[in-house]
Amino acid sequence: MVRVATITWAIYGAALAASATAVPDVQSILDLIRALQQAVDCDSCHASLAPLQTLAKRGDETFVGAITNICTIFQIEDADVCAGAIKDQAPILAHDLRHIDVWGETATKMCDAVFGLCQPPPVNELRMQFPKSAPEIPQVFKSTGRPPFRVAHFSDVHIDRQYTVGAEVNCTKPICCRHYEDQKEKKGQRIKVQARRHGERNCDSPASLADSMLIAVQEAASDAMFSLFTGDVAEAAVWLLDKTEVRKDMQEFNHQMAARLGFPVFGVIGNHDSAPVNNFPRSTTESPDVQWVFDVQSQGWRKWINSTSAYQMVHTSGSYSTVVPGTKLKIMSINTNYWYKQNFWLYDNDEPQADPNGILAFIIAELQAAEDAGQRVWVIGHSPVGKGDIMWDQSNYYDQIVQRYKNTIAGQFFGHTHADELQIAYSDYKNRTAANAVSVGLVAPALTPRSGNPAFKVYDVDPDTYEVMDAKSYFADMTHPTFRHTPSWALFYSARAAYGPLLNLPSSASLSPAFWHNLTELMVRNDTLFDEYQSRKNGGVRRRRCRGECKEKTICQMMSMRSEDDCVSVLFTSMTGSGGG
Ligand SMILES: *[C@@H]1O[C@H](CO)[C@@H](O)[C@H](O)[C@H]1NC(C)=O
Ligand SMILES: *[C@@H]1O[C@H](CO)[C@@H](O)[C@H](O)[C@H]1NC(C)=O
Ligand SMILES: *[C@@H]1O[C@H](CO)[C@@H](O)[C@H](O)[C@H]1NC(C)=O
Ligand SMILES: *[C@@H]1O[C@H](CO)[C@@H](O)[C@H](O)[C@H]1NC(C)=O
Ligand SMILES: *[C@@H]1O[C@H](CO)[C@@H](O)[C@H](O)[C@H]1NC(C)=O
Repeated sequence: MVRVATITWAIYGAALAASATAVPDVQSILDLIRALQQAVDCDSCHASLAPLQTLAKRGDETFVGAITNICTIFQIEDADVCAGAIKDQAPILAHDLRHIDVWGETATKMCDAVFGLCQPPPVNELRMQFPKSAPEIPQVFKSTGRPPFRVAHFSDVHIDRQYTVGAEVNCTKPICCRHYEDQKEKKGQRIKVQARRHGERNCDSPASLADSMLIAVQEAASDAMFSLFTGDVAEAAVWLLDKTEVRKDMQEFNHQMAARLGFPVFGVIGNHDSAPVNNFPRSTTESPDVQWVFDVQSQGWRKWINSTSAYQMVHTSGSYSTVVPGTKLKIMSINTNYWYKQNFWLYDNDEPQADPNGILAFIIAELQAAEDAGQRVWVIGHSPVGKGDIMWDQSNYYDQIVQRYKNTIAGQFFGHTHADELQIAYSDYKNRTAANAVSVGLVAPALTPRSGNPAFKVYDVDPDTYEVMDAKSYFADMTHPTFRHTPSWALFYSARAAYGPLLNLPSSASLSPAFWHNLTELMVRNDTLFDEYQSRKNGGVRRRRCRGECKEKTICQMMSMRSEDDCVSVLFTSMTGSGGG
């Protein structure tokens, strides 16, 4: 989760303000406070945008100054975190506010994403148009029983190159284990908990942990045909990051992967793979560009995806496709950031955009070409498209594409949530049955210890159908006695071994959407099974007990590839954090 909370709380803090003397423009701040005090529901959120808009019209500096002061005065975060995060994100919100009607639909979406006070507006109904209708007799992909090949999948590495052994673990910032400027002033103070080698739970991954994982990936999947990396290279100290550092972070990890892995990596662009974080302005916005992200990654990945795909990536806002040599499998890497609610550039226009930057059009064209060529496709992306932090409209349109090309899509792979989990698409969301399950997205756990034990996955894949036969999860137990010396990675569980027998899965059958659907049905009835699934999400780190509404929502979230059906109640999700990122 991004430090959006910082801004949100800053604005909420304003509502509590007794004195506004420290902020630049007293009258507009007083108006703002009056309005925000009443912002408790969607209508009042809209109303409170008016004084914010007035402030924004006075210029970015005034806007940033006011909100930073409020954040600092109310000690919502440390002063440096307030200043850094707000300097980066608030100008985007100010830009938005100068361009929209505070009572319009875009404002409602902003009140959902930024303040958690509105439900998203209903989906703007749109029937997606396809070049051809689905073939009457779909091509059949049949296994000939040849042995499976292997694919590794890792995600959300969040490498902190400034991780310092001996630095404070128990700090006051969103991530710790580094020497922060303002903590040097308190040098006299003794460090309470010293960061150890290879990582701590309050901190992002040291480079040594990333290296250790890549070695383990190479060992666990030495014969892998390729690997998937579903994004987020940079650390979560987002208030300190700039373009130079994020570029360097991405380049260094590209070198690290190339040095350690003996097979290609197919990557995606995560929301942290830009600076400021989530900074992906649409092509309709005149703004600081984000092209450098696509340039850096296409340069770094060119040797794996070939020059044609690297060119495509630069010209398709970071999306590309590539056919795995010697196969009929097309990897389609999609940039999900133009659908991501915390990308504040999405709120700078009242005109709804069905397909920002043409990502959906790209997906349709690639899928149609694959269908025509008799290929199968794996979609890879950062944010699972059915999650509550994806725009309802684009999630719905994407789901329509999945329905149309369900026969061509053999798998979908995501990251972002930092959890080993999945989501299923159905042909009828009012009637979610095994027969109606059409596709499944598998989500990889994270490397960063912030969300649990570091973990990655290895798939066994049928070489004729390109369907996943098994998903094995590997992890490094941070409490293991040797972890501080050399992390040891071990098989955590095999999905086929854990769930297959419970569902009488025939040995030749893949882990199909119907299989995963049947697992959800079994979990509804079997609490032990559900608890096992839950504990597998974060490499076995203990979770809070989840029953009743918690359990229902968790299972519901598995059963949707449309955010409108994700069972997330919007209220306050943007503050409590909707998972990874
Ligand atoms: C970590 O910091 C918190 C708040 O400052 C304090 O309550 C807690 O005791 C500290 N934990 C350790 C292990 O020092
Ligand atoms: C790159 O791979 C694609 C298939 O994905 C192929 O059509 C194209 O010719 C290749 N380009 C080069 C320069 O090898
Ligand atoms: C639900 O879908 C199943 C197919 O899985 C079908 O047999 C059944 O009639 C459907 N029920 C409703 C109410 O549409
Ligand atoms: C799912 O369960 C249904 C109903 O029990 C069964 O008919 C079907 O074969 C199962 N599908 C898979 C893939 O396990
Ligand atoms: C419930 O799940 C547990 C754990 O996977 C399994 O051992 C047990 O047999 C299941 N019970 C039933 C009734 O299926």
